[in-house]
Parts: sequence; C-alpha cells; structure tokens
Amino acid sequence: MDTAETGTALARRIAAAALWAPSVHNTQPWTFGLADDRVVLRADAARRLSAADPVGRELVISCGAALFTAETALRVHGRDPRTALLPDPDRPNLLAEVVFGGAVAAGEAAAAARLLAKVPRRRAHRTAFRAVPVPPRAVERLRAEAGREGVRLAPVTDEHAVAALAALTRAAEHVQHLDAAHAAETARWASRPGADRRDGVPAAAYPREAPRTDPDFAARDFARGRGWGTGASAGESAVGTVLTLSTPGDDRADWLRAGRALQRVLLHAAEAGLAAAFHTQALEVPELRAFIRTRFCDGEYPQLVLRLGVPDGTGPAGVRRPVEDVVIPEP
Ligand SMILES: Cc1cc2nc3c(=O)[nH]c(=O)nc-3n(C[C@H](O)[C@H](O)[C@H](O)COP(=O)(O)O)c2cc1C
Repeated sequence: MDTAETGTALARRIAAAALWAPSVHNTQPWTFGLADDRVVLRADAARRLSAADPVGRELVISCGAALFTAETALRVHGRDPRTALLPDPDRPNLLAEVVFGGAVAAGEAAAAARLLAKVPRRRAHRTAFRAVPVPPRAVERLRAEAGREGVRLAPVTDEHAVAALAALTRAAEHVQHLDAAHAAETARWASRPGADRRDGVPAAAYPREAPRTDPDFAARDFARGRGWGTGASAGESAVGTVLTLSTPGDDRADWLRAGRALQRVLLHAAEAGLAAAFHTQALEVPELRAFIRTRFCDGEYPQLVLRLGVPDGTGPAGVRRPVEDVVIPEP
C-alpha cells in the first residue's frame, strides 16, 4: 500500500465510510478524531434522543455500528484495526480508539472490501419483503457473524413468540403516541418532505402506508398523521425472519459490541441479498424491554428487534452529514 495513504488522510477516509452506519432516527450521534495513526470515536451527546433513549443505549449502539464500519474500512486499506473500547472511564463519550495496526492478509482485505462496498447501499428496509423464505443457512451464517462480536442473534421461530413480539411492538407504538415528549422528539427528527436536511429520517425513506405483515409489526410512525412518505408498496408483506440481538450485560461496552454486531450482520445480509427492517419501539419502553428480556432472550439484554427478508427492490438514497461536519483533528 502507498504510504501516502496512511496518516490523517487515511483517518479521514475511514470516517467518510463510517458515517454511513445506521443510527437511531438517523441522528448520526458521533464524531471522529483524526490522527496520523488512529481514529478516535466519540459520542455526540447533544444528539441523544432524550425521550426514546434517555440512557443513550441506542446512541452507543449506533456508534458501535460506525465503529465496525471504521474497522472494516481500515482493513480494506491493508491495516489491522487495534481497537480499545472505552479507553478512559473518566471520559464516557470517548467510545473507542482505532489504532492503525500491522498489515492484514490480502484475503482479509478483499473480504473487507466486499463488505465495505455494501456500506453506502445498505438501507433500513421499510417497504415490503417478497414472499420467499429466508434461507436458514443464511440466518445461521449471520448468527455466527454476531457471535464473533460476543453478541447473540437469535431467530424467533415459534409462531406465538413472533405474534407476541409483534403485539409488544404495536403496544409500544401506542404508548409512545400517548407521550408528548416522545411525539415532539419524533417530529424533530422526521423531516418534512423536500426538507434540505442531511440528518433525521426523510419522508423519502418510508412509505406513506406501511405494508402489513402477518402478524403485524407496527412500523415506526415518522409521519404522525401528516400523510408524509412515498407511495411505495402498501398492501401485504412477508414478515420474514424475526430476530432478537442481545448481549449478556447491559453497559456501554455491551452496547458498542451490539452496534458492531448489528452492522456486521446488516452488511453480510446485504451480501446475501437480504435486508433488515428495524422494530425497536418496544425496547424503548422499560417495562416491555424487561418482559422481552425474561420471556424471549433467556435473561440476556435485548438490544434490537429485526425482521430479515428479501427486499422488493432497492431502497431510497441515504442521507448523511458531510464528513467535514463530523471530523475533528486529534491533538
Ligand atoms: C439502534 C437503532 C434503532 C433503530 N430503530 C428503528 C426503528 O424502530 N424503526 C425504523 O424504521 N428504523 C430504525 N432504525 C433505523 C434508522 O432509522 C436508520 O438507520 C437511519 O434512519 C439511517 O438510515 P439508513 O440505515 O437507511 O441509512 C434504527 C437504527 C438503529 C441504529
């Protein structure tokens, strides 16, 4: 590799890839410190959702997804990431330092390049899934990928368990509608059609009428009765394979690992022609999250509820802030 590719230019290139990670409400709650020999990932606490995510769990998961993307981008550039999670307990917003390590094997760089190619194309799926089964082998492969991050990805196979999770998602959606702070927060992050914004969830990213699944998993209601959204794919959708992603503990390191595993799973799924719909509403209601933990996650802490399926087409273009907005020079 050309040595000109090292240093701050390399760090910046890595940040430019990492900012395409998924984040709750597309808050993009991160900054990247650029140095000659590392990228420093920090939480941008001003972008935390104070109603939906008061402790910052989803914020840190989002940053974990950015971390996996940064690590993948570094491998593509031939260098092994030497990552320290939460390197300074006195600075909780300092989430990770990714130091540029030694050379990676050519095969590893090529595999990372295939994953990285999916980063800007992967989208949170909100239209229909086709009525074709998700191959069990693909789910097994994704389960193993999550396991590499110390995170459990578990398909929910029992039809009653699937129906219960769908019902809990609907219940959470109703509970959140009743909460004025929650409604105001969603309004803040769901942009009106045509808005010139580089963060938040644009109206082009979800259908006006979410396709119904059986059992029905409520979509997050970004439009809040304003008729926003695209005309795409109302009607029916296959439910796909419902999955929980859980961790043995529930601290910031667990959340970072959950985010890493999330992006690892999403990118491998994209490689296999699969997409994921997110349904995290129930995990934002503490009583429902505790219930899901004991009943459906064997006591592990649920971090995400996803449906995986074969998408009915390519998603909308993504929206992100420019790299200049999220990088800072490291002293
Ligand atoms: C922790 C987390 C929770 C999320 N929860 C939901 C959700 O409940 N419903 C939803 O439609 N999207 C959800 N998303 C997806 C984000 O809205 C999406 O990543 C963001 O809008 C950026 O869009 P993109 O992933 O398509 O690039 C979640 C993402 C993360 C990281």
